[in-house]
Order: sequence, then structure tokens, then C-alpha cells
Amino acid sequence: NPVTGDIEPSKLKTITTDQPKELPSSSGLVFGRTFTDHMLTIPWKATTGWGPPTIQPYGPLSLPPSATVFHYAQEIFEGLKAYRDATGRVTMFRPDMNMKRMNTSAQRVALPTFNGAALIELLKSLIRKDKHWIPDVPGYSLYIRPTLIGTQPALGVQPPDEALLFVICSPVGPYYPTGFKPIALYGTTEFSRAAPGGIGAFKLGANYAPGVVAQREAAAKGYAQNLWLHGPDHHITEVGTMNTMVVFKQPNGVTELVTPPLDGMILPGVTRDSVLALARDHISGQSAPIDGLTEKLVVSERPVTMKEVKEASQDGRLVEFFGTGTAAVISTVDKIGYLGEDVHIPVGSQTVFGNPPKIPREAERYRSEHPQVPIPALNKH
Ligand code: COI
Repeated sequence: NPVTGDIEPSKLKTITTDQPKELPSSSGLVFGRTFTDHMLTIPWKATTGWGPPTIQPYGPLSLPPSATVFHYAQEIFEGLKAYRDATGRVTMFRPDMNMKRMNTSAQRVALPTFNGAALIELLKSLIRKDKHWIPDVPGYSLYIRPTLIGTQPALGVQPPDEALLFVICSPVGPYYPTGFKPIALYGTTEFSRAAPGGIGAFKLGANYAPGVVAQREAAAKGYAQNLWLHGPDHHITEVGTMNTMVVFKQPNGVTELVTPPLDGMILPGVTRDSVLALARDHISGQSAPIDGLTEKLVVSERPVTMKEVKEASQDGRLVEFFGTGTAAVISTVDKIGYLGEDVHIPVGSQTVFGNPPKIPREAERYRSEHPQVPIPALNKH
């Protein structure tokens, strides 16, 4: 859809809630169940483009039941976080990546695109408004959920001529109810998450609902999440809530960090990209040594099968397996249920990247070495 008028931060209108909610204690937070006092909405029409942005009290949206979002899943979303660091400074983690991906997702389902820098300005305004909701406990943050839906009242399958972008915020801790402990995955071979030429590489709500049955099956068998194994060779793809990384000790004495390539079936995760950047900086000597890593490191974006992981687990070459995601952060995996048995994965002092105690240090270092987007007016207070 052509952009007629783009998002205009200078036209922001703010309506403050007269019923501020009580702040929750961080320790009781369940991921994505608590929302801050305000949300941002920006309407769009094909004839006039993006309308004036409004920050208003968090509350129900009024939509016609014929809106295209309800019938043809014209919905895309993003997930990013604002953090309070040890000095109290607030930053958003790589929001430019989320804006770029949101525009790519919008194009895939014929929703309108927008100026990402303008939306980042508005995200800053929203975060400033609800700044007291940002937890200041390590490992906790404010999860920001920009969402774009088709709102045209129309049952014809077509690009919508009306849409709504809204942003809600939720204070969060760990995604998995077990906290930051290692998790167990269950290899799904019966269903596929994505197919070549499909929508797996885009952040669409439509990618998530069909995964819930596989996730429920994994949970019923005692695993935290399902791992999507694609095709007859059971290629490792992703977990749905996170990308996957495997670390092997290779026979030539190098440690190999492997993640499946972005072949159109994998979501291009921001945390995935950050871990690869951290590892590549290490290789090129641009960052401090990674604790626990003494061998030469190589980074491979290559196909990896469950057979390879299982064999490496049996012959001692498997160093670790972890998931990366904005919500999931870095989640160490300690076993994978696969064709009726468990493949065991080392965790603890042998691990290099995913060992939970090291993650906050690695993440802090990454954040101090890479450009951040601070929220200036907020940080003056
Ligand atoms: C995220 O990590 O932000 C995600 O979107 C995963 C989610 C479905 C919780």
C-alpha cells in the first residue's frame, strides 16, 4: 500500500488516564498478563495515510465485527523491550531492527508500511508516560508490543483500506514459568510451522495459533515447548517463541556455533542477530574473550538436523543448545524429546553461551558495546 501521509510524531495527542493502576510487584509477574496505564494508537486510511497518533488510557478497542483482521488474519506484530540498566538509564534494545521487520511483515500481508524512526519516537513518548512501570530488577523489563491490524469492514479478500497500529506495554520477567532455568523441548515431526515460500519468516499472528496444538502436546508430555523439526531429515528450525542455536565441538578442534539459515522459514530474530554479532566480534577480536571459551570459534548459519544433534550428544561433541528470543531472552535447553527418547544436552559449567549465570554479564557487555537508543527526556529524571 502506498504511504500517503506518514506517521507524524509532532501530531501526538495525549490523554492521561484518571484511573492509574496499582504497580505490580516484579516477583509475581506472569509473562504478558499485566499491562501499563496507557497505549498508543495510530489509524490509517488508504485515502489519507497515517492519521494523528494518540496516547490514551489502556482499554478496549471498538471494531466492526466485519473488520478484516477477524476474518483473514490481517495482523502483524513485534516484540521489543525497554530496560533499566544498573545506573537507572532506560534504553530500548535495537528498536530499528523491529521497525524494519514490522515493515517487511506489513508488506507480506498488504498492510500499510510506515516510517520506523517516527514510530520509535512515539514509542519513546509512550515509555516516558509509563516509565514507572519499567521493572528495575535484573532480568526484568518492559515488553513493548506494536501491533498492526486491518480494520476495513469487508468480507472480500483484498488489501484493507483501513488499518490500525496500536502499541501496548507489559512489565515482564522470564517467559517460561520455570524462570531462567534450563528448559526441555519436544521435537514435533507431525506438523510443520512453516513451508518454503510461506509466511514463516514474517511476524504474523497467523504463525502462532496453529502452533498451539503442538505446544499443548509438548506440555502434556512434560516439555516446556515444542521444537519444529522440518522435512524428512528432521531439520531443526525454531521453537516458535525463539530461534535455535547449537554449539558443537568439531573434530578439527574448533567450537562451532550453528543456527539454521534464514531460508524463508525462520523468523529473523533480533536476539539471534545479536548473538551472531557477539560471536563474530569475538572471532575478529573486537570484543573481550567469552568466558569459558578457550578453543577457536566458528559461526555457521547452516542446516542442522536432529540426527546430527543426537549423534553429537552421544559422542560428547554437543556443547550446548539454546533458544534466543526477545521474550525468551537466552534459554538454555537441557533435553529434547525426539522419536520416543530424550536427547540430553550439557548444561552448567561446561556451557559457553547459554549457561544462565553468564547471560546477564554477556548481555550487559553486548549492550555496552553496541549502539542503543536511549530515551533522553526520561533519563534526565
Ligand atoms: C517475542 O519474543 O517477542 C515474541 O514475539 C515471542 C512471543 C510469541 C512471545
